[in-house]
Amino acid sequence: MTLRSRSLVVSGIVLFLAGATGTVLVQRAAAQAAQASAAKAKIASEAFKNVTTSTLKGLVVDDFLGAMGAISADLGLDCADCHPGAGSDSVDWVIDTPRKRTTRRMVEMVANINRTNFGGAQMVTCFTCHHGRLRPSTTIALDALYGTPNDERDDIVAPVTSGASATQILDKYIQALGGAEKLAGLKSFIATGTSAGYEGLGGGGVFQILAQSPDRRSVQIVFKDHPERGENIRSYNGTAGWIKSPRGLLGQYDVVGSELDGQRLEAQLAFPAQIKQVLTNLRAGNPDSINGNDVDVVQGTGSNGLLATMYFEKPSGLLVRMVRYGKSPVGRVPTQTDYSDYRDVGGIKFPFKYTFSWLDGKDSFQLTDVKTNVPIDAAKFNKQ
Ligand code: HEC
Ligand code: HEC
Repeated sequence: MTLRSRSLVVSGIVLFLAGATGTVLVQRAAAQAAQASAAKAKIASEAFKNVTTSTLKGLVVDDFLGAMGAISADLGLDCADCHPGAGSDSVDWVIDTPRKRTTRRMVEMVANINRTNFGGAQMVTCFTCHHGRLRPSTTIALDALYGTPNDERDDIVAPVTSGASATQILDKYIQALGGAEKLAGLKSFIATGTSAGYEGLGGGGVFQILAQSPDRRSVQIVFKDHPERGENIRSYNGTAGWIKSPRGLLGQYDVVGSELDGQRLEAQLAFPAQIKQVLTNLRAGNPDSINGNDVDVVQGTGSNGLLATMYFEKPSGLLVRMVRYGKSPVGRVPTQTDYSDYRDVGGIKFPFKYTFSWLDGKDSFQLTDVKTNVPIDAAKFNKQ
């Protein structure tokens, strides 16, 4: 399983760095979604020709493709392993293969297990058994038993009553960023820098992030050395989200489903003063560690039940990671942002580096300049 071969539309995101590779694949998957996005937020059974499982058929297209991404990742497969010719011109998404039939059976099995054993809660997913393998292993390897301890994390953070509360951790974060008063004065910013891509793919982009309080955000990337790649945009204007990715056949499309909830949360958290308002049901979990550093853990719920877990480094109190989970009946669809290199801009700390990872891609952003409270025309966040 290579990054290249999974360079597809997952969660409705067309990979920015499709570049020289994977473009056909992106275009093929995008073509499917394009037909679908014509009628906005169509469900998968209407948008596609051969989608029949009880839990997948009712998903909006973006969430359906998110589920496809989760299935691929959970089994260690590429799209082409179930859809013959994916990645070429001869792809046939519709045709049934033996593995597709098994997959349908498994999708129903997972729904059944959760319904009959866990009151319908999402406790068992494809990953529970498959763990990145096509055939689940049945016996623990002794090397694993005596090797490094398992560092997998729970999706749902179990609240703890000892130690710092969620409110205390978030207050400390606000303080570390410059304090509530300073943050309340932040109404907009424009950040510029370069995107590093991933493993040499897709680098060399110059980006601009526009953000306007309380919930507008747009990330625009251009590739100066490769003007043919066009301008890539992810934007949320306070109600609607859209993505422009000229390398995909789709060109641009409206974001729906969990990905829209995710875009909204990222726009809101660009203005951290409101973090305790935009997330509900805030709870602190057991302290953990990330890259060898101790962190406090807070989980909250965004719009439409979007689950978000945040990790705050000790002792600084700064946010070093956020994972948000899109919903899918076969397993949640994670999107992770890692923040570092916090620098002071007029009394407020901004992370000058962040890495954005999703099921089929990863991109790193290095900021070079942040200008705060500059006027931005609100129309800039709309679909252009
Ligand atoms: C393990 C097998 C498997 C993998 C891997 C897989 N799919 Fe699927 N795919 C299916 C099954 C099964 C269906 C039908 C689902 C249903 O009936 O509810 C399907 C349906 C689809 C459809 C609808 C086709 C139509 O018109 O009926 C699209 C589009 C699709 N998949 C895209 C993808 C993409 C993109 C990837 C890679 C990210 C992918 N799939 C990976 C099994 C798979
Ligand atoms: C309770 C455990 C369990 C869960 C959960 C589970 N599977 Fe499986 N799956 C298995 C086992 C065991 C096999 C191997 C069966 C065999 O070899 O005959 C298998 C086999 C498969 C295969 C066939 C592999 C091959 O050799 O081609 C596919 C495809 C598959 N699973 C997809 C899924 C998907 C998709 C999900 C989530 C919707 C899922 N499975 C969830 C246990 C599970």
